[in-house]
Amino acid sequence: MKSPHVETTGSFVVWLTGLSGAGKSTLAYELRNRFLISGTLSVVLDGDRIRSGLCRDLGFAPQDRRENVRRAAEVAKLILESGQIAIVALISPTQDDRQLARRIVGAPNFVEVYCQCPLEICEARDVKGLYRLARSGGISQFTGISAPYEPPLEPDVVVNTAASSLAECVGELLSFIEVRQAGR
Ligand code: PPS
Repeated sequence: MKSPHVETTGSFVVWLTGLSGAGKSTLAYELRNRFLISGTLSVVLDGDRIRSGLCRDLGFAPQDRRENVRRAAEVAKLILESGQIAIVALISPTQDDRQLARRIVGAPNFVEVYCQCPLEICEARDVKGLYRLARSGGISQFTGISAPYEPPLEPDVVVNTAASSLAECVGELLSFIEVRQAGR
């Protein structure tokens, strides 16, 4: 049976991309809190959570990352169609894979956010100890070390998590969303 047309103009998907340790998850959960304060429900799809459940069968080879992105985008679309905001925090390292996500969700509802942070800073933070492991050969295909990360060419928003505070980053993001909503 064909699914009925669902009006999604009030809602959207915020897609956070960036290196491991760039602050995607922190930003995602803070954004969710800010939406909640204004009475808006949103759902966070975070890389670590997605990979421990929905995508537990996937690794980090390019085709697995693409499948990971595809599944997250499909779930985000379902959330969007339910009228809620989806906040996706995935490294999503290639231009191609992020374009796939944009196509699945639908371009007008897709807000691509580049969480920009130099590799040296992500590596110095090394919150999970994964960079150290990757440098010593304990993890293969680690993004930024032994696997590529392609910065977005035309992101909707760039937040510099190395130079700006969390409050500043969230503020910039909310301002962009407000303007886009007003233009609809
Ligand atoms: S991807 O590229 O979008 O499919 O990656 P994602 O689903 O966001 O998963 C990233 C988290 O997995 C952990 N991890 C790795 N990241 C990158 N490369 C390799 N090889 C790897 N192995 C495990 C890591 O905790 C990432 O979480 P974040 O929050 O990005 O630090």
